[in-house]
Amino acid sequence: PVTAVIVVAAGSGERLGYGMPKAKVPLGGETILTHALRGVAAADVARQICVAVPKGDTQLRALCAAFAAELGDSSTQITVVDGGSTRSDSVRSALAALLDGTEAVLVHDAARALTPERVFHRVADALAAGAKAVIPAIPVVDTVKTVIETHGDDAAVAPELVTGTAPREALRAVQTPQGFEVATLRRAHDAALLFDDAQSAAVTDDAMLVELLGVPVHAVRGASQSLKITTPLDLIIAEGLLEGPLG
Ligand code: C5P
Repeated sequence: PVTAVIVVAAGSGERLGYGMPKAKVPLGGETILTHALRGVAAADVARQICVAVPKGDTQLRALCAAFAAELGDSSTQITVVDGGSTRSDSVRSALAALLDGTEAVLVHDAARALTPERVFHRVADALAAGAKAVIPAIPVVDTVKTVIETHGDDAAVAPELVTGTAPREALRAVQTPQGFEVATLRRAHDAALLFDDAQSAAVTDDAMLVELLGVPVHAVRGASQSLKITTPLDLIIAEGLLEGPLG
């Protein structure tokens, strides 16, 4: 299918604590966004890379233009759009800017800057084989429990009370790029426009919106190198990966 990759890079990066959008944070002498774009381009699965940057951020726009120049006259077009106040808003902006005739789209977090090419290929291959939605996922190593905040007497003992334990063998930690038939993802994001604030805040990936439509979502193997750079510890790990076998 004719494919585009959306790279969402419009987050504030507050949790990383650099006081700048995460996409600009240095990693191995370059920015997180440059690493992410390199990875997408190297995978060579798309004719368009559509990047959502924080609204009005001229530096990140310039960085995308420099990257487009670096690609030269390659067959991949780089498009830059203003992101929105939520990740879903940023994805919607990018969806509106896809070239006519685009049939499949991979939505990728810039923060997953070191995602290996093979993960892009697994997702793109599943789409080519007929999946309408496919996500990369890895087994969960920790035991995962549900909790509620404690009140009254319980609150004097501890802040939270455990309400259950999810069966670990059935759980997966989900990454990006997430791949979709374009029409399906557009329908999913249109439906999400009707959400109230609490529902909107609960949207953490694109696949969950597609799940709500009742469309089957398939999973392929992700990679631990695809970690989402979120905290200072993640940045240390990413630097280590660049210096190590990946560097
Ligand atoms: O903050 P979160 O972990 O959800 O961010 C995941 C990705 O979504 C990041 O790459 C971030 O730049 C992007 N994002 C965005 N627009 C927002 C919020 C996050 O493009 N408003």
